[in-house]
Amino acid sequence: MQILDGKKLAKKIEEKVAKDVEALKATTGRVPGLAVVLVGNDPASQAYVNMKKKACDRVGFYSVTHEMPETINQEAIEETIKMMNQNPNIDGILIQLPLPKHIDTTKLLELVEPNKDVDGFHPYNVGRLTTGLDGFVPCTPLGVMELLNEYNIDVMGKNCCVVGASNIVGKPMAALLLNANATVEVCHIFTDDLKKHTLNADMIFVGTGVVNLIKEDMVKEGAVVVDIGINKTEEGKLVGDVDFENVSKKCSYITPVPGGVGPMTIAMLLANTLKAAKLHAENEQ
Ligand code: GUN
Repeated sequence: MQILDGKKLAKKIEEKVAKDVEALKATTGRVPGLAVVLVGNDPASQAYVNMKKKACDRVGFYSVTHEMPETINQEAIEETIKMMNQNPNIDGILIQLPLPKHIDTTKLLELVEPNKDVDGFHPYNVGRLTTGLDGFVPCTPLGVMELLNEYNIDVMGKNCCVVGASNIVGKPMAALLLNANATVEVCHIFTDDLKKHTLNADMIFVGTGVVNLIKEDMVKEGAVVVDIGINKTEEGKLVGDVDFENVSKKCSYITPVPGGVGPMTIAMLLANTLKAAKLHAENEQ
């Protein structure tokens, strides 16, 4: 069994991004800029945004966080997004999800200029991903593909079981795997007999938020297991959706939590923001 070390690869990608930032600055005078919208006081969202901001600082990006109270209204967030769409110093816009119940999330995501949509959540970019065209791809599944690539794990022709069908993780994960010529199954909360599907899989990609959902008896010998879950136990320990201790004994490769997919998500946010900045620099010339 080999560990898919996301922390190590993320560091390598960060170093490359930092070098590219220097080069972009030298040739165009531009510094990539990321704007983050954070609404309310959810500790997990605050922690994620903090990590993203620190990563931006490490690679030399300009970044700004628009912190808004839980009670903010739809129009005020819309005005902020419109401002960021117009701001030439901002290359990427990220709205940290989830948003409070009274906010229309879809409407906000649709308001983000597609060429600043570094999260890849705008329907324009979702459509480009499903048709296999270049665009912005959601950071978490993109990070998973980079991690597989780093370890020369080819998904072509493999039975891939994606567990969880969210817009942020499961659906774009399935699209990326399909684009890479895998045979893809998507399981979700309504799936009858999850084990039947996972047992048949050469590779399992799980992002559901359910601790220990994937157990040893649900995994084929030699499978690749990618744990996209991130959960906090009552003791405050970070764990994924996979029973790592027992499942790892059966796998060929497995991602740890923490240190697997999480750091890759942040590295891909940096990569997407750099990509947006390069596009904007080209369009200025
Ligand atoms: N909430 C959980 N994951 C994500 C993510 O990748 N991007 C944003 N914007 N919000 C999230």
